[in-house]
Amino acid sequence: MAIRHFLSADQVNEEFSLELIERAEAFKHGAEPHIELPKYAANLFFENSTRTHTSFEMAERKLGMTVIPFNPETSSVSKGETLEDTVKTLSAIGVDLVVIRHSEDAYYEELNTPENQAISIVNAGDGAGQHPSQMMLDLMTIHEEFGKFSGLKVGIVGDLEHSRVARSDMEILKRLGSQIFFSGPKEWYTKDFESYGPYVELKELVKEVDVLMLLRVQLERLHSDEKSEFSKEEYHQTYGLTDELAGLMKDEAIIMHPAPVNRDVELSSDLVECEKSRIFPQMKNGMFMRMAMLEWTLNCEDK
Ligand code: CP
Repeated sequence: MAIRHFLSADQVNEEFSLELIERAEAFKHGAEPHIELPKYAANLFFENSTRTHTSFEMAERKLGMTVIPFNPETSSVSKGETLEDTVKTLSAIGVDLVVIRHSEDAYYEELNTPENQAISIVNAGDGAGQHPSQMMLDLMTIHEEFGKFSGLKVGIVGDLEHSRVARSDMEILKRLGSQIFFSGPKEWYTKDFESYGPYVELKELVKEVDVLMLLRVQLERLHSDEKSEFSKEEYHQTYGLTDELAGLMKDEAIIMHPAPVNRDVELSSDLVECEKSRIFPQMKNGMFMRMAMLEWTLNCEDK
């Protein structure tokens, strides 16, 4: 068996997603990890992160792995070393697995070559491409709530164009039989979303969906590109989940958000911790799901 990587939604089908959810649930209930130690991990975050970085590191430590510190600013990347050479270097030193977040879409394609098969790569987010660990923790959170994916109506709202969360989640949820709908600024509902689901005005969407998935607005983009000439307040009133709109949701429907949340932009501040919100449970599930993903990645027969 070749070395395992965890890179994108492409490699996840229903059977595999249920296997990982079951394992993450087992970790949540205290199961012991099954990996052969020692194993060494390095977390290469070239973009800022709180949740993904810390929960991968927590997951690595709970699995008994040794975490090798890596800081892009003090590494030789700052002297011009390429990502490919950095990963080859860590592999030569004996690191078994790297978790990488990078601003370049599909950065992992140039790393996943036949010559570079001694180190596992786990994608912690690539540009506006994929965010597979967020996708898996979102699936776990939805499964905990509804016990299924097929037939669920999922609304994805906000900065679709720039969102790797939207791309990963729509791909897997459609494959698993959910119906996807989109809302938010219509100019961000670009062509690549059309084949996954229709655009629906937010006021109508909130009444229909079982899962309302809000996306972080990249505040730096408001007023900075011609597609987003609105203030935070205007965004909230036009495309955000206000208390009034939340009141129209179905009784059993839930609110999700990958976070970080811009309070009073994507949703009103008091909805972040409301009964329907699964925002902090998503973060908790993320650590257990990352344990399951790392365990699977490392449990390759020929390592
Ligand atoms: N959801 C998410 O990826 O958060 P961070 O950017 O804090 O990792």
